Parts: sequence; structure tokens; C-alpha cells
Amino acid sequence: MVTVSAAAADIVQTSADAIVVNLFEGVTSPEGGTGAVDKALDGAISALIADGEAMGKAGEATVIHTFGRLAAKRVVVVGLGKQERFNAHAARAAAANAARCLRRVGAANAATLAHGAGSGGLSPRESAEATTLGSILGLYRFTAYKSANGDGGKEVESIAIVEQDAANLADLQAGVDHARLLADSVMLARDMANEPANVVNPARMAEIAQAVAEETSLSYTALGREEMLSYGMGALLGVAQGSANEPRLILLEHRGDPVNPANNVAIVGKGVTFDTGGISLKVAENMGAMKGDMSGGASVIGAMRAIALLNPAINVLGVVPAVENMPSGTAQRPGDIVRAMNGKTIEVDNTDAEGRLILADAIAYAIKEKGARRVVDVATLTGAMVVALGNVNTGVMGSSQELVDAVLAASRKAGEKMWQLPINEEYKERIHSDWADVKNTGGRPAGSITAALFISEFADGADWAHLDIAGTNMSDKDRGHVVKGATGVPVLTLVQLAQDLAADGAAR
Ligand code: BES
Ligand code: MN
Ligand code: ZN
Repeated sequence: MVTVSAAAADIVQTSADAIVVNLFEGVTSPEGGTGAVDKALDGAISALIADGEAMGKAGEATVIHTFGRLAAKRVVVVGLGKQERFNAHAARAAAANAARCLRRVGAANAATLAHGAGSGGLSPRESAEATTLGSILGLYRFTAYKSANGDGGKEVESIAIVEQDAANLADLQAGVDHARLLADSVMLARDMANEPANVVNPARMAEIAQAVAEETSLSYTALGREEMLSYGMGALLGVAQGSANEPRLILLEHRGDPVNPANNVAIVGKGVTFDTGGISLKVAENMGAMKGDMSGGASVIGAMRAIALLNPAINVLGVVPAVENMPSGTAQRPGDIVRAMNGKTIEVDNTDAEGRLILADAIAYAIKEKGARRVVDVATLTGAMVVALGNVNTGVMGSSQELVDAVLAASRKAGEKMWQLPINEEYKERIHSDWADVKNTGGRPAGSITAALFISEFADGADWAHLDIAGTNMSDKDRGHVVKGATGVPVLTLVQLAQDLAADGAAR
């Protein structure tokens, strides 16, 4: 794994396998650190710009060999895109592109400028944080089961973020440290979701959560079948009953404001460790992707880790209903009617709409048993979400516009794109049941919205927001700090949200 550090040094003098400098789109004669390197190379960077080979576009990385003209063997010129569109997220993406370029060329030890710290307008801390986060998350690969990693085992081992001015070193270091903490939490979530379902089953998810609690100040408990039965969690138990793997309701608690128990938020993540669809069986093609159907739960566990370590002044409860949705002789059937913990009955029209069933009990538990005032759930809930927003935006819905706005604001700061969808009453007739209080499907139209409306039936008594990550939990390619496979979305948003809500509480 790559080590990122901060150093007060002159990048021109730095000895490394490669140094990384940067370039805004449209700049013809670079200044600052890039300009100094250009001069030391007798104008090689300016020449590349003049030839249209290095244009500073976002996503671009150009490699120059120094042939002894510098202490470093190579220079990577990474594009920062248009200056007017530049921000910390663009810096993060540039760092990720640069880091993957370093790996491609086999540079084990590198030094980089803090992207955007100069004319980009970022503070040294912001810049170091973005550069570190992009480098670590952009280099992430899930290689646990690969005997060889495909490119001869080339890994980037160290990246030093160098800055001339020693006065900025403490700020740079703070940015590096914060990013390390966040990146490790995102990668914890990514690892869990990338692991196959024969490894990460409900019991294993619970063990991972317990290990996180032992590493931090979180308290951990998990409910099994018997306890779920005693709480009347018929919806959660109905989904679990087809599998030989016992379900768990995983609970992680951060007590950041113990004297004000009402200053709280519960984050609830769907933890379906494998979703076959149950008796309403899915088709074979791409079913393997359903090992990632616990991504919401993985993000909650990852976020809880960061929240514990950052210690915001708010009580945060992490809840993960972890189950496997299997067809079997004991599986629930379409047409079954179950009763959730809040007393409402549900007609199970389709056993593949299982996420909303387990969230119903998990959310009711957070509110009724734990006194949650705000609930934010995260789930790979609907294929309809992928149709609506693709793999770019997470869909956000909710009963409290204030909480939805807080989620959207946090997502903008975190650089995880989200977009709100409406959940008007008019859609509700679609989940009307002739036999029970509510039905677990609403047909094809507005499938993500009717799923959210179903969940709202179990979120009475709290402000509630819902994040459907069905399109954003996995990526089919590397893109900035996001890489192929599990993305870890929305760990960064959840952590930011906890911090923002804590700050709001303190201001009140
Ligand atoms: N886990 C799936 C949703 C999903 C689909 C996530 C594709 C990621 C990619 C969920 O449990 C599901 O099966 N939803 C059904 C609901 C339907 C039966 C009402 C769906 O979206 O088709
Ligand atoms: Mn399903
Ligand atoms: Zn599912």
C-alpha cells in the first residue's frame, strides 16, 4: 500500500523515480513548481505544450524522461483542466490519474506538487488532502485473490507531497493525515463489497464491524435470529429465512454527545450479502454482481470507522441488517404476508424487492428502540435507479427536506454526486395492497420512488432521507479517485454529514 508524506523541499532538486507537476488547460508558459521544472528541463514542458502534446486537460498525464538533467528520472505532467472549473475534487482526480500513471511506468517512489495550492486557490491543507485522497483511492485495487497482479507486481510505494515553504508543512501534514483516515475508511467499504459472497456473509460482516469497534471507540452489538424474533422483525426474518446463513442486525455506536442523547442520527445500510432474488429468482446473467448488494452496509461500517476517529459532537448509530436472499425450501414466497417491528403488515409481492423489507425493520428498530431523531439509509435498492441516473449520481429521497438538503450539501463537499427525486403522495397508490397494509412492489413506473415510499412507511417518528446507490456502488472503469469495482460511495458523504450535523447542533 502506498505511503503518502509531506515534505518541505524543492521539487526540482528532489530525487525520485518520478516527480509529478501540473498544468492548467490553456497555460502556455507554466509558473510555480511546474515552471521551475520546465526551466530545469530547458523548456521541455513548454515545448510539449506548444506542440499540443500536453494541454493541461483533465485526465491527461504526460511522461518526460529527464536523462540526468534532474535528480528525478521522470517528470509526469498531469492536467488540472480549466482553471475556472477547478476545485479540490478536480485536484483529487488529477492526483489519482497521476498516481495510476506512476504505476504504469513503474515508478515506486515519487514526489508531487500539492495540486492546486498555487494558482488553483486551494489552501495547503485542502490541496494536500485532495492530493493524498486521490493518490490512495486512485491506486486502490482488490487483489486479494490474484496470485500475480497482472503488471509484474508494480506498485507505487511512496508519494511525497513537496512544498517550498516550510511554514506550510504542518498544514500539509494535517491534510495528509485527514485524507489517510478517510481513504482507509473508504477502502474498508470497498474491500467488503469486492469480497465474494462466499466470504462476506452476514456473520463475516458482523465480525468486520466488531473489529472496527475494537480498533476505535465504537460500541458494537449484533442481534441474531432469536432477538429479531423477540422484537417482531418479521420483514427482516422473512428475507433471511431462505438462507442457511444466519442474519445479523449489526449495530455500531458513536457517542459523540452523551449528555444530549437527542442530538443524534442513525445511518442504516442495506447488507444483502448476496441477492439471488429469492423465489422471484433473478436471471443468471450478471447475477454475480449481487455480491455487492451489501454496499450500503459496507459504507455505513466504513463511515462509522471514520466518524469514531474524527469524533464529531453528535451521537451516531450505524445499523446494518445483514442477510442473504436465497431461494430454498424454507424461503419466503410471493404472496406471503409478514409483520414488521412497527406493527405494519406487508404483502411480499416479489421476493426480489428484499432490500426495502430488511430496511423496514432496521429503521423501525433505530427509531423505536434507539430513539433515532434522524435516519439516513443507504441501499443498492432498485434497478430503476440505474435507469434514471446511471452510474454518475446517487438518488436521494426523503421525508424531511432539511435532512435531504443536509445530505446534498455534504455530498457536494465530499465530491460524491447526488440528485434528489420527488416522493409525492400520488405515487403511493402503486404500493397499495388488497390484503395487507402495504405491498413491497410498485411496478415498473417510478420504481425507485415507490421503493422509497415503501420505506417511508417504517420511518415514522424521525426525519428521514434515503440514498439509492444501485448505480453508484460499483464502477466498470477507473475514473478519478473511483476505480473499477466497489466505489465506497457514499462513505465520504456520510462522514461529512455527521460532521455538518454536529456543527449545526453546536451552533444551535
Ligand atoms: N439489489 C437489487 C437492486 C439492484 C439492481 C442493485 C441492479 C444494483 C443493480 C434489488 O434488491 C432488486 O432486486 N430490486 C428489484 C425490485 C423489483 C423486484 C421491484 C429491481 O430493481 O428490479
Ligand atoms: Mn433484490
Ligand atoms: Zn437487493
